[in-house]
Amino acid sequence: MAAKLIHAVQYDGYGGGAAALKHVEVPVPTPKKNEVLLKVEAVSLNPVDWKIQKGIMRPILPRKFPYIPGTDLAGEVVAVGAEVKNFKAGDKVVTKLSFEYGGGLAEFAVASESLTVARPTEVSAAEGSGLPVAGLTALEALTGPAGVNLDGSGELKNILITAASGGVGHYAVQLAKLGNTHVTATSGARNIDFVKSLGADEVLDYKTPDGAALKSPSGKKYDAVIHGATGIPWSTFEPNLAANGKVIDLTPGPGAFLTYAVKKLTFSKKQLVPFFSPIKREKLEVLVKLVKDGKLKTHIDSKHPLSKAEDAWAKSIDGHATGKIIVEP
Ligand SMILES: NC(=O)c1ccc[n+]([C@@H]2O[C@H](COP(=O)([O-])OP(=O)(O)OC[C@H]3O[C@@H](n4cnc5c(N)ncnc54)[C@H](OP(=O)(O)O)[C@@H]3O)[C@@H](O)[C@H]2O)c1
Repeated sequence: MAAKLIHAVQYDGYGGGAAALKHVEVPVPTPKKNEVLLKVEAVSLNPVDWKIQKGIMRPILPRKFPYIPGTDLAGEVVAVGAEVKNFKAGDKVVTKLSFEYGGGLAEFAVASESLTVARPTEVSAAEGSGLPVAGLTALEALTGPAGVNLDGSGELKNILITAASGGVGHYAVQLAKLGNTHVTATSGARNIDFVKSLGADEVLDYKTPDGAALKSPSGKKYDAVIHGATGIPWSTFEPNLAANGKVIDLTPGPGAFLTYAVKKLTFSKKQLVPFFSPIKREKLEVLVKLVKDGKLKTHIDSKHPLSKAEDAWAKSIDGHATGKIIVEP
């Protein structure tokens, strides 16, 4: 009997952007013993998705072509592998697929049980799908190198969040404000009110001279910077940092690694931290619970049907999303 075919979006090689995405029919994937098969309800895109297509991790990622991109999704379990213990058909979940094999931009996908968490009814599929990479990066950067406690304990910290209107930044502002923080944020002029509504204490338009200089209007020196923007040199951060201030760089290029090494070797108190977020199931559960409890929101930039996934892809490449870009099969 012929296998059931599903709609998926894939690319066959590096480069080509949105125009290189192809709509295809592929067999329903089969879950391995520790995997769940999901009917996909929502997929959120991250810049890393199109950066992998560009070849930023070549030849390590993707593991093989053709490749179905998309790793952050919400869906309903329809079948489980023999060793899956925590899920059964009918369960609603949020999950993070591997970058190696992807699989998200499709009607059905298989996910490892170890990175899958239950999604309560209060959390919509679109909201849940935004959380894995962007939410975990914000959470791990804040609670790790930035030293913010989400229960509000500890000394007051002055935090700067660059690109605060983006996927990571909009979660970072909300999470930072659960801690004992003063948050300065940068965004474009059109998003200043949005970023304030997330809880930021002061917002700088990054296209003004003070915004470009990252100067706090209230004169704060930053204990930590969650740096989601790109192209800002160390010399711009340096005068704005507190004595032990850290720049946590989410997109570290060669220049950032050089600065990191120089600061370490010279025993500088001000540090640059190249940061790649770990992906942990228990932290994803924390984020889902915060959304359920109304303490964290996913702002949806736009929703696109799977049949128009290339529009979502192009929008992410464009770099001007406010919150998360979602694809719905
Ligand atoms: N290291 C990690 O583990 C990790 C994890 C996730 C993401 N990242 C990286 O972190 C970066 C941010 O990711 P994301 O998902 O938040 O991206 P995103 O959603 O695409 O960010 C788009 C937003 O950034 C704003 N923006 C762009 N340049 C800016 C600037 N110079 N100053 C202030 N705002 C600016 C844009 O505002 P306008 O539209 O007004 O220009 C837009 O709202 C990306 O480079 C991504 O690859 C790293």
